[in-house]
Amino acid sequence: MIHSHSSPSFSDQRPGTSGLRKKVKHFQQQHYLENFVQSVLNVVGPVKKMVLGGDGRYFNDTAIQIILRMAAANGVQEVIVGQSGILSTPAASCVIRKYQADGGFILSASHNPAGPDEDFGIKYNMGNGGPAPEKVTEAIYAATTNLEHYTLLEADDINLNNQGTVTLGDMQVQIIDAVADYAELMQSFFDFKAIGSLLKSDFRMKFDAMHAVTGPYAKVILEDILGAAKGTVMNAIPLSDFGGGHPDPNLTYAKELVDIMFNENAPDFGAASDGDGDRNMILGNNFFVNPSDSLAVIAANATCAPACADGLKGIARSMPTSAAVDRVAEKLGVECFETPTGWKFFGNLMDAGRVSLCGEESFGTGSDHVREKDGLWAVLFWLNILAVRQTSVQNIMMDHWKEYGRNYYSRHDYEAVDSQAATDLMTHLRAQFTSLVGQTLGRYTVAVCDDFSYTDPIDQSVSTGQGLRILFDDGSRIVFRLSGTGTQGATIRIYLESYEADASRCNQDAQDALSDLIDIAMQLSQLKERTGRTQPTVIT
Ligand code: G1P
Ligand code: ZN
Repeated sequence: MIHSHSSPSFSDQRPGTSGLRKKVKHFQQQHYLENFVQSVLNVVGPVKKMVLGGDGRYFNDTAIQIILRMAAANGVQEVIVGQSGILSTPAASCVIRKYQADGGFILSASHNPAGPDEDFGIKYNMGNGGPAPEKVTEAIYAATTNLEHYTLLEADDINLNNQGTVTLGDMQVQIIDAVADYAELMQSFFDFKAIGSLLKSDFRMKFDAMHAVTGPYAKVILEDILGAAKGTVMNAIPLSDFGGGHPDPNLTYAKELVDIMFNENAPDFGAASDGDGDRNMILGNNFFVNPSDSLAVIAANATCAPACADGLKGIARSMPTSAAVDRVAEKLGVECFETPTGWKFFGNLMDAGRVSLCGEESFGTGSDHVREKDGLWAVLFWLNILAVRQTSVQNIMMDHWKEYGRNYYSRHDYEAVDSQAATDLMTHLRAQFTSLVGQTLGRYTVAVCDDFSYTDPIDQSVSTGQGLRILFDDGSRIVFRLSGTGTQGATIRIYLESYEADASRCNQDAQDALSDLIDIAMQLSQLKERTGRTQPTVIT
């Protein structure tokens, strides 16, 4: 029986950088999830075939059953669900594309902690496998604010623990192996024979799944298929509260792995992924690879992977990501695009065949094999490069800086800051823009100040207010942005970048090399005075 329920509509369902994210308790309000799902279906419909899965966090199970019943009531004919309701974000993108679905719901709040008092999230991806573009998310938001009713099939929960097909009303629910299609795609992209030989040699690696969704994917691909030693994948069992951790693969939150890799007897290679499997961190023996540098290394060594043997079509990076990859693009003679923060801005460029490699400074790297950033893919790319070049992670990085110079880079995050103080800080910065241009601050002279805006080269859509940039005349920069994914107060991100061409000066500690810029950022923003914070929450 299909029931129509009246919805109160909600005013706070505007999707952020990557979908709608709120505390679980917020999502548990009556009609809240339903209001969002119905609005999506109304805006993107009619949906005949859709994919559904999530990172397994708390509330994943409940939300999936609700969405299935709503899909059945809204004329969806077939839903492809990952076994036990699990699909990593890149795997969901892969499945949407492979089965030519109209789109899919991904349930995740990415790297945010999980549990009854933590975060939940939902986003809709289109038929190309990528996040809905801004014009669609804005239309969804508008719909959420005045939805009058939603429909739901009255039915019992479906058991999603076994593969196979079941029916729900007139709808087919196909429960698939969550890993198989993705693993097959990885096998077609990389040289598994070469990587397998590397992993079966005396090369040692650790992969930290952080009790999140990549556990089963990494176990199958790294240990079962490629033959890495059992135990290579740590924290491999996904837990609904991610073991109480914060599954963000960075130097602060992936501490267990970092302790192993920064040690006398460290393995050759370490990597981690986040809650939903789209981020990656790459480490060598006592060595951290900055994500912006990782993107540049992958670009420069792309032909190591069979799928990129003929070279890259073009490259795109988000605005705050360092310009290290721009130098590689220039040398390769391919186009390089600078987009706003968020993977959704890469979709059009990939669909149009203009770029095949994309990256963000926030531990996000990927290509046109799917339409999401892809954590394990980046790890496999590094392994493929290591297998071909037969040298250490550190040597690969050093060689790179020798050839291209080094874009010293760091991001300082101030999390859960008072929202008003954060907004005022941005206003204060903006107010200085006109007078700052031409000023010399220490060894830096301000060339341009702006609020980054972007015109999509494919559909000409314009996105404004994407981050405050202070650009210096030697190419160095400071960028200030407020996070669009946080759920508590505001998160201020400060991105710092300075270029060093002299190879003999490329081995400094990044924080030391950037210390003048850090001081300038503090002075201009009055961050300490305004927020009461003396130290960033996370330094990358
Ligand atoms: C953050 C990252 C951004 C990434 C997004 C989703 O967004 O900075 O690069 O695409 O998470 O993983 P932010 O919180 O900065 O809006
Ligand atoms: Zn993520």
